[in-house]
Amino acid sequence: MGVIDLRSDTVTQPTDEMRAAMAGAELGDDVYGDDPTVNRLEALAAKVMGKEAALFVTSGTQGNQVSIMTHIQRGEEIIAGVQSHIIHYEAGAAARLSGAAYALADNPDHVVYAADVRRLTRPSDIHFPRTGLLCLENALCDGTAVPLKTMRASSEAAWELGFKVHLDGARIFNAALTLGADPKELAACADSVMFCVSKGLCAPVGSLVCGTREFVEQARRNRKVLGGAMRQAGVLAAAGIIAIEKMTKRLWEDHENARYLGEKLARIPGIKVNEEKIHINMVFWEAAAPGFDSADFVSFLAKRNIKASGVPRGGGLYRMVTHNGVSRAAVDAVVEAVKEYAAGL
Ligand SMILES: Cc1ncc(COP(=O)(O)O)c(C=O)c1O
Repeated sequence: MGVIDLRSDTVTQPTDEMRAAMAGAELGDDVYGDDPTVNRLEALAAKVMGKEAALFVTSGTQGNQVSIMTHIQRGEEIIAGVQSHIIHYEAGAAARLSGAAYALADNPDHVVYAADVRRLTRPSDIHFPRTGLLCLENALCDGTAVPLKTMRASSEAAWELGFKVHLDGARIFNAALTLGADPKELAACADSVMFCVSKGLCAPVGSLVCGTREFVEQARRNRKVLGGAMRQAGVLAAAGIIAIEKMTKRLWEDHENARYLGEKLARIPGIKVNEEKIHINMVFWEAAAPGFDSADFVSFLAKRNIKASGVPRGGGLYRMVTHNGVSRAAVDAVVEAVKEYAAGL
């Protein structure tokens, strides 16, 4: 068994089929709209999300930021969760690039509810910034999937109040699988949706922004502003097509491995896992043993060819992520290593 990397699903490698498709991809200059493989990927993305059009972007962050830039005027406020990727993990980009101000919901479950949308929307008054956008996320960064009904209620509140909704659906296929929903149903709760073909879907690079034809046309212009217009990008898009058509079908395996990992870790003295919160491919756990030292733990695992994150993600919780490179046997090996470590504390 090679290295087992549990730090994130962003560490996935393109499959052999992807590499072959990348090598043989038909290419053109996408800035001229001439790359047939990019055009195929964008059409496919729009179709699976039930939107009119889609735009291939370099990353999830770029997809979110292009969307925000397209939706709001400078100085407008965006409503989002304080722990959401857009707020917490994008280096303040919405403020820096789009002049956004933030109105943040801070619920313990990280969900932005309809009541938050109503409470955080600014009344019309010259003293206040205008509310310009609601940013939802599903699956959430804490690895949970937000029920469709909850999302829909939040979006409807925003629409009633007169502003648009963007969905950060970096892991929308994971969320849809857990909710037993079609990704289109989640995407229907938003005017624009971003999803990643990298991460658990194994493409090496790329995300898609989907929305109306008019929105995507404007987003294409804003992608140029951000330096994200690519030329023979079909070489990347070829992997993205396989990500959507094939790799979405195997995510259940990662979810089962995460649940299995969580169950086994929970039985180890000194390790606490909230198993109810394992909705997708992420396991969050807490070290309850007094002698636990994260740097020591990480180096103990590294000596056994296991890469794990020693940086807690908030609330003192550590994260392990399953993906295409983590088999059931690999999970067993991880559990054995953690048991050995915990026994030595
Ligand atoms: C919920 C969410 N949104 C957006 C992103 C950003 O994706 P990228 O790393 O491709 O910029 C991530 C990355 O992990 C994410 O988890």
